[in-house]
Amino acid sequence: MTNPSVLITGTSSGIGYDASRYLIASGYRVFGSLRKAADGERVRQELGEQFNPLIFDVTDEAAIRQAAETVKERLKGQPLHGLVNNAGIAVAGPLEHLPLADLRQQFEVNTIGVVGVTQAFLPLLAQPGGRIINISSVSGKIAFPFFGPYAGSKFALEAISASWRRELLLRGIDVIIIGPGSVKTPIWEKAAEHNVPSRYQDTIYREALEALGETVTQSAASGMPVEIISKTILKALTVKRPKTRYALPNSWLSGWLAPLYLPARLIDRVVGKSLKLINGQ
Ligand SMILES: NC(=O)c1ccc[n+]([C@@H]2O[C@H](COP(=O)([O-])OP(=O)(O)OC[C@H]3O[C@@H](n4cnc5c(N)ncnc54)[C@H](OP(=O)(O)O)[C@@H]3O)[C@@H](O)[C@H]2O)c1
Repeated sequence: MTNPSVLITGTSSGIGYDASRYLIASGYRVFGSLRKAADGERVRQELGEQFNPLIFDVTDEAAIRQAAETVKERLKGQPLHGLVNNAGIAVAGPLEHLPLADLRQQFEVNTIGVVGVTQAFLPLLAQPGGRIINISSVSGKIAFPFFGPYAGSKFALEAISASWRRELLLRGIDVIIIGPGSVKTPIWEKAAEHNVPSRYQDTIYREALEALGETVTQSAASGMPVEIISKTILKALTVKRPKTRYALPNSWLSGWLAPLYLPARLIDRVVGKSLKLINGQ
């Protein structure tokens, strides 16, 4: 019998790479998307023959469709058990000055890319029983200053996931969100081309961005290990009654419950003071 198959996007590093490793160790065959052929060869060598590289960018519709054809042929009539929409980038910056091209790219990858990939692979998912897992973020529910592009793309992903989950009741396919806080991965280094602090050097946001830079560096260093997300992905793929959303904040109190449930004006003041957006008021 062949191993159950899942498709994971963005498997060159971080969460996608570790989820591929973890699911293969748990008996899955993984189709993993990467953008560079060299990354595909490297990951195949590292993770073995149950890792099947597919080369496509999630913003390239034609390449996605071609990859779906390839997977269909390789599955030989077997269904895909799961689709994990993981590929993503993180764009940050003050909305007043943010280049619109960067905002568009943020949504193209994190939101529209997920829809494109899901449309293409949906016909290959088990009906009923297939599961789509969308990797959102704490930023899919809570929007901090300067994370507008990233949080916007993830809020939109959350809404699309909820609509799609209800539409797919007809097919018996579930849509599940995983929303981690900060995870130790190279995501911020990779998106450096979009996040250029010097761009905002002469704006009123300079000081706040410096304070934010320190916070981001600290939280990236103290981020949770990727394996926590991999284990949650396996759980979402296998448990009989999965939750619709798995929240994985770094701190339940300060990183989740307080910003979600305390009055928004109070949180504005706390965040505003810590990022020097409020001067001694
Ligand atoms: N790290 C965190 O703190 C954190 C927290 C919450 C949620 N998340 C989410 O977790 C997911 C994975 O991020 P990560 O932290 O593991 O970051 P990562 O290590 O940078 O991995 C991101 C993956 O997405 C791929 N990717 C980027 N743009 C793409 C595109 N246009 N088409 C196809 N693939 C593309 C990257 O490929 P290349 O190597 O080719 O760039 C890489 O394989 C993202 O959706 C992110 O928003 C991350």
